[in-house]
Amino acid sequence: MTKILIIGGGAMGSAFTVPCLENKNKVTITEPYSKIFIKDLSSKNKFHSALKIKLSKKLRFKKFSQKLLQEKFDLIVIALSLSGIDFIGKELKSLKIKTPILVLTKGLKYEKKRNKIFTISELLKKKYNGMNVSALKGPCLAKELARKNKTSVIIANKNINIAKWIGKQISTKYYLIEYSRDIIGVEICSAIKNIYSMIIGSGQSLNTSSSLFQKSLIEMKYLTKYFKGKETTIEGLAGVGDLYVSAAGGRNSKMGSYLGKGFTFKTAKKKFMKKDTVEGEQLAREIAPFIIKKIDKRKVPLMTNLFKAVLKNKKLKIN
Ligand SMILES: NC(=O)c1ccc[n+]([C@@H]2O[C@H](COP(=O)([O-])OP(=O)(O)OC[C@H]3O[C@@H](n4cnc5c(N)ncnc54)[C@H](O)[C@@H]3O)[C@@H](O)[C@H]2O)c1
Repeated sequence: MTKILIIGGGAMGSAFTVPCLENKNKVTITEPYSKIFIKDLSSKNKFHSALKIKLSKKLRFKKFSQKLLQEKFDLIVIALSLSGIDFIGKELKSLKIKTPILVLTKGLKYEKKRNKIFTISELLKKKYNGMNVSALKGPCLAKELARKNKTSVIIANKNINIAKWIGKQISTKYYLIEYSRDIIGVEICSAIKNIYSMIIGSGQSLNTSSSLFQKSLIEMKYLTKYFKGKETTIEGLAGVGDLYVSAAGGRNSKMGSYLGKGFTFKTAKKKFMKKDTVEGEQLAREIAPFIIKKIDKRKVPLMTNLFKAVLKNKKLKIN
């Protein structure tokens, strides 16, 4: 029986408990940040307010603490949003954790001092003491996973044996796992698809969105290669797979549709999506300083125009 600790009791962390428990693992979940999720997970019936389902009674909830992180687990899963990555990196660093870590979080970090973009696994390894990190990405709406709808995801690690060991602990009939050594490419694709799904969502007809989809793939390919990922990763689950699900539904493409209708970002956010986190917006703010300075804008015209809409509040111009 594998002992798994999931850090982050939001929609994804909680949905992830479903295949983990199905595989008869001993699963503990903890929540360091949100009072709502702490309340949900520590309640008797374990009704999750974001997933709108009751989680298994077998799931154990424990209060987040350094002591908990020091307990003997076989796998630690990070399911926090991007803003929680530095926090958890610092917590784990001081403990010199050797346990394999699996990151579900999608996103990239810009380090101003070094003028460099880091993937989350790079950041955890370099800044926070060489942890043993794998990344799990791909098309996976948390609500669908929690309801056991079939989905396929990909685990990446240069050491493919670690990725395969993790996959064995968590795969089920409805949670199918592929593997990749291209951890950089997988992380780059799964992050930037949040920006491109906004762009595709801005199309006001299927024809326009399809054309934006194809142009987005060309830009994603260029960026993946630029950051030293494999071009072919774009064709996989973390690339085109995840782009499809995000463009077809979700908060990024919803924001994109308002931008496409001619609303400015600020107006659309205030009027229609006040309480929603738009991950593509967060990523745009994070990476724009680097992309604008370092990358030929003729290679990424869609992303450049989206930056203008999000950062400068200009009307979105998509040619
Ligand atoms: N890998 C996958 O298959 C997959 C699928 C869906 C989503 N995701 C990713 O998982 C992550 C979480 O998504 P979600 O849908 O669960 O979001 P959510 O909003 O439901 O939950 C966010 C989690 O992050 C925590 N958090 C937020 N801000 C924090 C901070 N400043 N410090 C510490 N913790 C903080 C919250 O408390 C919560 O646990 C996102 O990066 C998302 O892209 C991954």
